[in-house]
Amino acid sequence: MDNIKSLTGMQDHFNDGDKDNLSSKFFQVEQKIKEIFINYKLEEIRTPALEDANLFNRSVGNSSDIVNKEIYAFNDRNNKTIALRPEGTASVIRSIIEKKLDQTTHKLWYMGPMWRYERPQKGRYRQFNQAGVEILGIKEGFPEFEMISLVCSIINGFNLKNCSIKINHLGTKENKQTFCDALVQYLLPFKDSLDDKDVERLNKNPLRILDTKSEKTQALLKNAPSIKDYIDQTSIEFLKSIKDQFSDLCDIEIDYSLVRGLDYYSGFVFEAISSELGAQDSFLGGGRYDHLCKKLGGKDLPSIGMALGIERFAELINTDTSSTKTASFLIVTSNLEPKAYKIAHQLRALNKEIILDVHLSDGSLKSKLRRSNKDNADYAIIIGEDELKNNTAVIKYLKDELREQQTVTLDELYSFYKSI
Ligand code: HAM
Repeated sequence: MDNIKSLTGMQDHFNDGDKDNLSSKFFQVEQKIKEIFINYKLEEIRTPALEDANLFNRSVGNSSDIVNKEIYAFNDRNNKTIALRPEGTASVIRSIIEKKLDQTTHKLWYMGPMWRYERPQKGRYRQFNQAGVEILGIKEGFPEFEMISLVCSIINGFNLKNCSIKINHLGTKENKQTFCDALVQYLLPFKDSLDDKDVERLNKNPLRILDTKSEKTQALLKNAPSIKDYIDQTSIEFLKSIKDQFSDLCDIEIDYSLVRGLDYYSGFVFEAISSELGAQDSFLGGGRYDHLCKKLGGKDLPSIGMALGIERFAELINTDTSSTKTASFLIVTSNLEPKAYKIAHQLRALNKEIILDVHLSDGSLKSKLRRSNKDNADYAIIIGEDELKNNTAVIKYLKDELREQQTVTLDELYSFYKSI
């Protein structure tokens, strides 16, 4: 019988303790990003993976690639069309409207898997994970600064090099429309020389042409109208002031050709990219979406948000060499000794900073110590038959070869453990 394999573009993340392994980095990112979010006083929200498919048609947009070609939608047993969420923003807004919380401000974060039926390649998966933030109920101004401050904290918190933040402003709904019309007028005479994808974009979502991969279209766009000429001077000044405030912390670039792949954006948009990622170089993206809540049946709730692709980001980070101490707890007795497990329990309660690994499998002291060394443990605490009888334990200093191991009373063990 054939073995059952994981689906194309979907991967397991298995933290096997090897800190250089990509999956281990994935978990490091999740943990540290969460700390950063909490530091910004954001509240967690967790929405279901499955939603009514109409939610994404009405938010992410029918003309976007995400809804058009990439959505995982199917009929359930009741013949209702449901979809695996391709992103988190629409679900957050749906939830806020449903709970009638759409008249107040919220600062929210979430983390979890998203699904897009894309052609898998490095950095592009069919199931991937995002860490996202949504600031709801506050109009343009302070939240943009908070958002870029957060992006800088993420980049600097992980000591990332070779990356930059691109920012742009899409203006008002009307500005965006006038610019799209001008772009279409400019490109229509060249329609026959555009590839099929760009012709489709020209018809359905002209702004997305600015994201073209075709060199021919890129050459044409050099003389095309620029959004800069269609937005207010205040928006241009706003971009400049964000750049000025944060450019000592991160590389920030105003890029008037930056457009985003989801239809709900208006106003300020941004993306963080890294030259170390190859073709899929954007590891974070976001922007303002002031009209989405109303469009989904809620109140007027001006909002802004962003999401980080955890897999792409994990590719960029260096192994966390933080100084968390670890100890191995080795029970070397011929019988099951409940008292020994109680000692380990007490140690854990005394010092939560230390990772205590109780070796559960049978084996000789030698093999257990070999494993402790392999796991890079700082200490081994050894309990054998004699120690149990005498209420003592042995402490072995694994990172200090010159220091002799010590037999101590249990009280001395507790004091030592507390003081590490
Ligand atoms: P997005 O740009 O579509 O924005 O996705 C955000 C990030 O998710 C990307 O920068 C990328 O790192 C990651 N990502 C997207 N697709 C894939 C994929 N197939 N494989 C691996 N990683 C991927 C959003 O999703 C918006 N909801 C962001 C937002 C929040 N805007 C406002 N609020």
